[in-house]
Amino acid sequence: MFHWLEKNPFFFAVFVFVTIAFAGLVEILPNFAQAARPIVGLKPFSVLELAGKNIYLKENCNACHSQLIRPFKSETDRYGHFSLSGEFAYDRPFVWGSKRTGPDLKRINRSTDWHESHMKDPQGTVKDSIMPPYPWLFKKVADIDTAYAEALTVNALFNTPYNNAEFGDVKLPANKDAANALALTEAKVIGEDIKDPVVKEALNQGKIPEIVALIAYLNTRK
Ligand code: HEC
Repeated sequence: MFHWLEKNPFFFAVFVFVTIAFAGLVEILPNFAQAARPIVGLKPFSVLELAGKNIYLKENCNACHSQLIRPFKSETDRYGHFSLSGEFAYDRPFVWGSKRTGPDLKRINRSTDWHESHMKDPQGTVKDSIMPPYPWLFKKVADIDTAYAEALTVNALFNTPYNNAEFGDVKLPANKDAANALALTEAKVIGEDIKDPVVKEALNQGKIPEIVALIAYLNTRK
């Protein structure tokens, strides 16, 4: 039936173009429906949380952890409600992942001190865990400046609703210094539940250890 098309390079090229363009549109168009996308109650990431997300990416946690619960009973029984596209409206990039050496983290719901002990010594918390320890997260300082630049970018390019009461009133500070100050305030709240004296001391000196930013990010997954 399509022999004439195969013998006619010009129309064949047009046909291929139209087919691929249509497939592209189907993928791209939903992204323009900005207002309709986020689920109700979803907030943009604060600068501290973004810094934590960058640590998650840098340490490649998603090599072992997914953040996408599929609509199967075996998954919803274990991890909770299956993921909805609107829950990821501010995840840039997505960290859905495709490998589950460890459990899904989309709805991870643990306390700060649980995360602290687990990150320092997974086997001390969960016997037989094969997750590696991350001792350096307790010493290295989180990169707030880059996270702030990122927040400015998603705000400018993708209309991420900062400073908007309707979307949780997450603040986008006016400059880098204000961003660092705000991140430190948020970090200190988390720091109250942290036991490690090195982390506490760093916070007192105005530095934010990576572990604190990472926990801030993990808490957004609840
Ligand atoms: C080599 C694979 C591997 C890597 C890399 C890894 N994990 Fe894990 N993770 C696991 C395994 C296996 C478990 C389940 C056993 C346990 O709780 O320790 C787990 C458990 C967890 C849990 C507890 C989940 C629950 O529901 O109890 C959290 C939170 C977590 N990981 C966070 C992280 C973060 C954050 C990183 C990156 C800094 C990371 N993991 C890197 C394998 C990994």
